[in-house]
Amino acid sequence: DYAPAPEDKFSFGLWTVGWPAADPFGVATRPPLDPVESVHRLAGLGAYGVTFHDDDLLATEPDRDTAIARFQRALAETGLRVPMATTNLFSHPVFKDGGLTSNDRDIRRYALTKVRRNLDLAAELGAQTYVLWGGREGAESDAAKDVRAALARYKEGLDVLADYAVSQGYDLRFALEPKPNEPRGDILLPTIGHALGFISHLERPELFGLNPEVGHEQMAGLNFVHGIAQALWQGKLFHLDLNGQHGPKYDQDLIFGHGDLTSAFFLVDLLEHGGYDGPRHFDYKPLRTEDPEDVWVSAAANMRTYLILREKARAFRADPEVAEALAASRVPELATPTLSEGETLDDLAADEFDVEAAGRRGYHFTRLNQLALEHLLGVR
Ligand code: GCO
Ligand code: MN
Ligand code: MN
Ligand code: MN
Repeated sequence: DYAPAPEDKFSFGLWTVGWPAADPFGVATRPPLDPVESVHRLAGLGAYGVTFHDDDLLATEPDRDTAIARFQRALAETGLRVPMATTNLFSHPVFKDGGLTSNDRDIRRYALTKVRRNLDLAAELGAQTYVLWGGREGAESDAAKDVRAALARYKEGLDVLADYAVSQGYDLRFALEPKPNEPRGDILLPTIGHALGFISHLERPELFGLNPEVGHEQMAGLNFVHGIAQALWQGKLFHLDLNGQHGPKYDQDLIFGHGDLTSAFFLVDLLEHGGYDGPRHFDYKPLRTEDPEDVWVSAAANMRTYLILREKARAFRADPEVAEALAASRVPELATPTLSEGETLDDLAADEFDVEAAGRRGYHFTRLNQLALEHLLGVR
């Protein structure tokens, strides 16, 4: 009956259910939510984990030590885990030109100290992933930012943080979260591809991977499933943010599956059959129209949608007609190396190959895609 359980590894950011729904055009429509209530409600719904920005813990209790003590008590009472934590380097006016890449050197130094403090807390709470979303690292004008210098400072900051984590013996890896724009006109490391390229220039690339978000790649018009497949192939899918988005427009942060549903189906198929065993983390915003009880309906909807899609993906993989269609489309053949063991390019010249006949062969992808769609639609 699609009831989530801790083994399903569902996790939520405190800032998701706790979003009071202020937007650029209107004030909040819901009161601030006590993180302690979020922990209890999420555990009650069957989640296994909760994640947070340093500042999220202070939503209703301004004293940091008290807030942390209350949060830790709620974790102990519910058994909820903290698999990931992150830093808010975007809300305060001091970060209006970024944190690690602000033009202002004093601000970059403060940003590093702010990350360090929450890194200590993340390690103490047993988090294994530390996310860095650089929402304010960017510009609106190409005159305002020396992008090459900004990337050098980004690298410097991340290298310093990684050295610190290693020196403290923390069992933590860092996950960069790409986003093309919003709140900045253009954000640095805008896509999965940009971030993967950047990581190869860090001093400890093995400690860095990605936290890709469904909607962020789709805002850039990119195929999220392809991006996740490449991150998996490169061993860089450390974590991910599941949500929904309808194509290139503002960041919608919809419930998972409430955007591009076909892409959500193939994403779940890939995660379940592609070797990802990390948290299924939701980074969404309950609609601004919803009341405080609707928030929990929306949290449950994320998990239920994932479980329904998981069942559909399993049925798709188990269907003998699908297996036959995959073979007819020669999908499994792509796993066979192009050259046999010991062969060289010279050997290929001896192939007896009828180019015209091969050009006439169809791939039958239409039938395969229709079968997937029919599984998704629940008619098979
Ligand atoms: C967004 C981002 C943020 C980050 C989060 C972690 O929607 O623009 O996803 O929600 O994930 O702030 O730093
Ligand atoms: Mn988003
Ligand atoms: Mn996110
Ligand atoms: Mn978000």
